[in-house]
Amino acid sequence: MYYDFYTGGAEDQCTLKENEEAFRRIIIQPRILRNVRCIDLSTTVLGYNISMPVMIAPTSLQKLANPEGEIATARAASACNTIMVLSTSSTYSLEEVAACCDAIRFFQLYVYKRRDISAKLVQRAENNGYKAIVLTVDSPRLGRREADVKNKLVVPPLKNLEGLLPTKFVSDEKGSGLAALASGTLDASFCWEDITWLKSITNLPILIKGVLTREDAIKALEVGVDGMIVSNHGGRQLDYSPATISVLEEVVDAVGGKVPVLVDGGIRRGTDIFKALALGAQAVLVGRAVVYGLAAKGEKGVNRVLEMLKEELELTMALSGCCSVKEISRSHVRTKHDQQL
Ligand code: FNR
Repeated sequence: MYYDFYTGGAEDQCTLKENEEAFRRIIIQPRILRNVRCIDLSTTVLGYNISMPVMIAPTSLQKLANPEGEIATARAASACNTIMVLSTSSTYSLEEVAACCDAIRFFQLYVYKRRDISAKLVQRAENNGYKAIVLTVDSPRLGRREADVKNKLVVPPLKNLEGLLPTKFVSDEKGSGLAALASGTLDASFCWEDITWLKSITNLPILIKGVLTREDAIKALEVGVDGMIVSNHGGRQLDYSPATISVLEEVVDAVGGKVPVLVDGGIRRGTDIFKALALGAQAVLVGRAVVYGLAAKGEKGVNRVLEMLKEELELTMALSGCCSVKEISRSHVRTKHDQQL
């Protein structure tokens, strides 16, 4: 049941598969005879220095993978000197995660029908040293994840919501426990105008997660977000939405460097990270690969996954003739679009 929850996507899982497949269609164009003796992978996101352009995506219910859950993940983020985004739907509270180590942490927010609860969460995140709010906007309802429905997924206690929302939700033939939780609590009426409300209750920068089109990228700039994440929720929400890497460039072009653009979905290799950077991402986020590391070996497993991605990216850069992430340019990749020209 838990493996299905982590690995699965919505409905036909077309988007889930495409997230990985679309990377395979992008070719790297290496440069030769560059001095690549020293490779610098470091970068910054919202002014925070990180050791590599790889962050940890918010993934819920991490205790299902390992009893140390989000604590283990945060410690690995700290050891690897990168940023962890903590899910609202975590199985340790945001306070417990903040107290366990000095990782740079962002807080992922869902907006509830009870706005006061979301406002409280934002306040708690701010008080506990979270550096940004990652507002997930692709989930006015939960996507239909059929494995979770069949398995009658049992949702463990969501520690951030204890005492605030009912936390017992059961599966029925219409949906999983998680779907019941979402439809009972999430505010499906939350829209562009409401970003002003969010901005009015926090001084933290706001990253909007779930942008997939030029049109929405422009709207996000208009309402004044501080960054955006091109994401389709790892293929778990709208099936047949595009692979994120296939729309990254469109969003990057629309944003024109005004705010950082990040991307997640299907990142499994250093070459995937290289391709995303070449198409204009400031950094990538990794969801499932981190959760699998957590399930295999707790903190050590997450650490190993991050190290593997780092080693692979470093090798890719060396073999492509790039000494720093700044040197990775659009001309280092060829996409389907370029081949048609
Ligand atoms: C997620 N994702 C997610 N996103 C979010 O904003 N809040 C959340 O609570 C969750 N929970 C969650 C659980 C699990 C098990 C997965 C796999 C994903 C989506 C996540 O942040 C990210 O967008 C994707 O995981 C990226 O795709 P990959 O790296 O898994 O291919």
